[in-house]
Amino acid sequence: MSEPRYEQHEYDVLIIGAGGAGLRAAIEAQQRGLKVGIITKSLLGKAHTVMAEGGMAAAMGNVYPDDNWMVHFRDTMRGGKYLNNYRMAELHAKEAPDRVWELEQWGALFDRTKDGKILQRDFGGHRFARLAHVGDRTGLELIRTLQQKVVSMGTDVFMECKVLQLVHDAQGRIAGCVGYWRATGEFVVFQAKTIILATGGVGKSWKITSNSWEGTGDGHAMALWAGAKLIDMECIQFHPTGMVWPLSVRGLLTTESVRGDGGVLRNSLGERFMFNYVPDMFRAETADSEEEGDKWYDDHSAGRRPPELLPRDEVARAINSEVKAGRGSPHGGVFLDIASRRTPEFIRRRLPSMYHQFMELAGVDITREAMEIGPTCHYIMGGVQVDADTEETAVPGLFAAGEVAGGMHGANRLGGNSLSDLIVFGRRAGLGAADYVAAGNGATSFNQDEVDAAIKEALAPLERTDGENPYTVHHDLQDLMQADVGIIRNALELEEARVKLDEFTERIKHVAVKGGRSYNPGWNLATDLPAMMTVCRSVTLGATLRKESRGGHTREDFPNPDPELGKINFAQRSDGGHWDSPITVEESPILVLPAELKALLEEAK
Ligand code: FUM
Repeated sequence: MSEPRYEQHEYDVLIIGAGGAGLRAAIEAQQRGLKVGIITKSLLGKAHTVMAEGGMAAAMGNVYPDDNWMVHFRDTMRGGKYLNNYRMAELHAKEAPDRVWELEQWGALFDRTKDGKILQRDFGGHRFARLAHVGDRTGLELIRTLQQKVVSMGTDVFMECKVLQLVHDAQGRIAGCVGYWRATGEFVVFQAKTIILATGGVGKSWKITSNSWEGTGDGHAMALWAGAKLIDMECIQFHPTGMVWPLSVRGLLTTESVRGDGGVLRNSLGERFMFNYVPDMFRAETADSEEEGDKWYDDHSAGRRPPELLPRDEVARAINSEVKAGRGSPHGGVFLDIASRRTPEFIRRRLPSMYHQFMELAGVDITREAMEIGPTCHYIMGGVQVDADTEETAVPGLFAAGEVAGGMHGANRLGGNSLSDLIVFGRRAGLGAADYVAAGNGATSFNQDEVDAAIKEALAPLERTDGENPYTVHHDLQDLMQADVGIIRNALELEEARVKLDEFTERIKHVAVKGGRSYNPGWNLATDLPAMMTVCRSVTLGATLRKESRGGHTREDFPNPDPELGKINFAQRSDGGHWDSPITVEESPILVLPAELKALLEEAK
């Protein structure tokens, strides 16, 4: 055995990622008396979870008593264009209310109805106002509450630790992971009986994104390399409303709550263009006049939903079309107007973060002026294929929850369904991992060669004297993905992306970084690039194969959904387990709905 060049830790359940899913999983596993550790690349309390500002969707029926899990299930399946794993959508709709009440017991603050219940707001694609929220800072409140609980339970949290790779034991079970401390560059190995991936999303490979530096797809890539399958990777959500100006904050999220609370979209001619983009699927329930849409905000039984509250995929495409047609705003977006529709007092109370964000970053007073907004890469519906009940992947001992897991949201996620997804499936992953350990299935040793190889590869950019700067490669990769694998795709651009991604593979192999391992962000980025590359190849492959338009995946050369493709997920596997290994694809049939659930969907047609 070679000399250890790293410190080592040992856990029953090791969680990679400290957003909502990771923290909720930790609480569950810790409550079962297991030794639990959490690793975060960033700092505790800083995760993309905070970017789900508007609320968590749960059919609690506090505002509309007719709401229930069946309507929420139906909305989620329709929003996902039926590509969803129905069992995940069912569990999510049934369990979300309990998870929200539990958060309340743990100290989370919520806005209230007049009679003291948790207030629920409107969001796109939801039949009823069902997002539990606190102003427009709900993700932050969720993280704060879970974090406090985790700390009070004494769970070990390792911050600023970048995980490079998962490692197996001789039987192919997950046995731990290898990484390094971002501050010192020293390596660390975590031996673990189970790992729960809760690493979030992939948005940092696109130029315009709401994701911050952490969103590099580490969990998606590491799962694939370790032998798990990725599904629906072509399904990327471009949130309709990101800031477009000033350029320094382009992509920063403007919460859907603005539309949920009455804001409307207008083009440069002042037209509420969304009325022109209502798809057949949603026509019966969408208002066809401004007056009718306005009535709906006061009472959902009077009037129909305004078109600004269509699901996000529809709204983002419509904005894209308006800009392309030359009816955009001065900086390449459209206008989001709440100032002319609600009082300044209402706006400041309901949307305090948006008020400050626009005032401080853009000099725009949203109580008096419209905001300029445009689509921003926000979320990936695709991810690691898991068992709906336990969140276990195809690799024994490896679990995944939250954005890194696929299936729950199908081809498009409804706003607000992310925070509830995190707490429902975070809890289930914690339980699944605990059961796995209790059954005595956990690995007790790990493959040293895998550790050594990961360390050697991570050090390589520092050892090259001549090579490309990782920032240049990352910048070019973002440009490519934005241009060729963005909101609207076609065969020509996807083929160009495929060819260029092969060139990027070679470029990444020759990246060079100056300096040492300590406090070296250039090196940190160099070690993120392999995962980003894997994700970009996987998304491009899925987008090439899915010759139809469905949810967050739009092909201008195949503008309609194909009923046959609606029956399958493309499941991708790594043929070699390395970041540059070929990715193979199989058609994975979508689970067939039991008759009683199918009936719920039929009622909606
Ligand atoms: O617009 C938002 O507040 C984002 C919510 C979400 O992604 O669920």
